[in-house]
Amino acid sequence: MFHMKNSIAASFTLIVLLSAAAFAEGEGSVTSTKTGTDVVKTDAAKSTQKKPLKKKRAKASPKTDAATPAADAAATAKADATTPPKSDVSAPAPSNAAAPQDNVSATPKIDAAPAKNDASGDSAEAIKQRSGPGDPVAGKEKSELCQGCHGEEGISAEGFAPKLAGQYGIYIAKQLRNFQAGTRVHQIMSAIAATVSDNDLADIAAYFASRTKMTGNGSTNKIGEQLFLHGDMTRMMVACVNCHGANGKGKTPTNPVFPVIGGQHKDYIRGQLINFRAGDRSNSPGGIMNIITQKMTDAELDGLAEYVSGL
Ligand code: HEC
Ligand code: HEC
Repeated sequence: MFHMKNSIAASFTLIVLLSAAAFAEGEGSVTSTKTGTDVVKTDAAKSTQKKPLKKKRAKASPKTDAATPAADAAATAKADATTPPKSDVSAPAPSNAAAPQDNVSATPKIDAAPAKNDASGDSAEAIKQRSGPGDPVAGKEKSELCQGCHGEEGISAEGFAPKLAGQYGIYIAKQLRNFQAGTRVHQIMSAIAATVSDNDLADIAAYFASRTKMTGNGSTNKIGEQLFLHGDMTRMMVACVNCHGANGKGKTPTNPVFPVIGGQHKDYIRGQLINFRAGDRSNSPGGIMNIITQKMTDAELDGLAEYVSGL
């Protein structure tokens, strides 16, 4: 469990360190993102969302079956022959990188290479950096088992499942390993995470990271805006913008510690803030998100979810 009283002093130091890392430009200075070593298991029974399997899987391909992800991943071996080497990922796509979604299953060639700039104006270099070590081209087919819930382009149709489009590859991989280890708990994701190999995970993560970054619907909220931009240090609430970046789109492309939250689904954000506040999710470094949400009122939490999802 998360012990508020014992960790105030240490946490304060951590906030300063994390904030310093957040402000650091260029090289990502914090790279130990594999696991949260100082956190403990949360109670599996407390998982707040238990029924996503019943929801329709938007655009799920026939192959996509959450129950047999390993088989699906293995089936992608045949794609390797047509998969360019990693060094080619940033090369301009020959033809249809901007609109690959219509002909994926029709053609044997998988064209998932990022375009020069995505629609949000991110450069090819930035897209490559945020993708992490995996191969997004190989990851496209490997990620079919995820697309039913998270969307073919990483934009999930329903608010309970997070968007992954433009999220940091290393952050995505970290979450799956946290689900697997039990430092983050969700019935479905914990089961799926255990079936994905490190190699496949890096590629899948890179694929979603390379998609056009998630954007919001423009909804605003005064309470949320105030806290996002200015925080409230009397309650240990460091302004979100310090760590999650302008418009919640993350810091530099090389710093995967702080996830993209701007434009994420409102329901999902709200759910995570509730989980952090209750201590049901404890995988942020040093429990930083537990500390920040600890004294939030329901109205503030709602306001933040509304505001951040609009960005
Ligand atoms: C049956 C639906 C379903 C499938 C299939 C699925 N997910 Fe998820 N995923 C979810 C839900 C629901 C959550 C939200 C969990 C929570 O509330 O903590 C989630 C959360 C995540 C997160 C956390 C995102 C964040 O912003 O912290 C990642 C990363 C993720 N999934 C990746 C994957 C990958 C990779 C696959 C395929 C290997 C996959 N998921 C397959 C439903 C699914
Ligand atoms: C000192 C740095 C810091 C500050 C300030 C901060 N966060 Fe975070 N936040 C993090 C880190 C690091 C994570 C990633 C946790 C992990 O690795 O799972 C995170 C994760 C999250 C997530 C989960 C994202 C996901 O996709 O599941 C949400 C939502 C979030 N923060 C919202 C906020 C809001 C809202 C604020 C302002 C009230 C805020 N954060 C302030 C560091 C910070």
